[in-house]
Amino acid sequence: MLDTQTVNAKRHAIAETDDVWLFGYGSLIYKVDFPYLEKRPARLSGWARRFWQGSHDHRGTIENPGRVLTLIRDRSSVCFGMAYRVKGATFSHLDHREKNGYLRHEVKITWVDQQQSNWQQNSQVAIVYQADEHNAAYLGPQSERAIAQQILSSEGPSGPNREYLFRLADALRSLGEEDDHVFAIEAAAYELLKNNDQ
Ligand code: SIN
Repeated sequence: MLDTQTVNAKRHAIAETDDVWLFGYGSLIYKVDFPYLEKRPARLSGWARRFWQGSHDHRGTIENPGRVLTLIRDRSSVCFGMAYRVKGATFSHLDHREKNGYLRHEVKITWVDQQQSNWQQNSQVAIVYQADEHNAAYLGPQSERAIAQQILSSEGPSGPNREYLFRLADALRSLGEEDDHVFAIEAAAYELLKNNDQ
């Protein structure tokens, strides 16, 4: 398993900083186990959310990895997420939580709740955790049914993989957001459960 904690700790000198924005697009939307000063919905352009990352430590095991989200470069996509203003010290907890292949990147997000005509005023630098195709836990694309099947059959120390999928889909819905990829995998999972294929 690739442990990215040491790499991430050296990547951005923010440990002493009072104020850093974190952009969450997966479990960071619905599982907020860290202190934050402020929380705001935001969008990240040029990236798409995909269940293409393996999880050996949270939602699966080494023998039976689950599938969790990462971001894939896609110029035509805009990814909705939740941004949190946190203290730099919070990143040691976040680096531990996101340690299986996720590297921190600095990106520019735009606020959902503030439509300024001036893009500069409406945008904010934030840190995002992204797991690229070169990390050891990366699984890559599969059909929606195959991804749903793997999610339904995986479980790890953080709980069943299906909980990650269903909670994320519910959270997006309750925020009034649509995500074709997530909702298609959710639908495939319910179909499999209905047909007792899992
Ligand atoms: C995120 O939520 O922003 C990163 C991926 C995850 O922890 O699910």
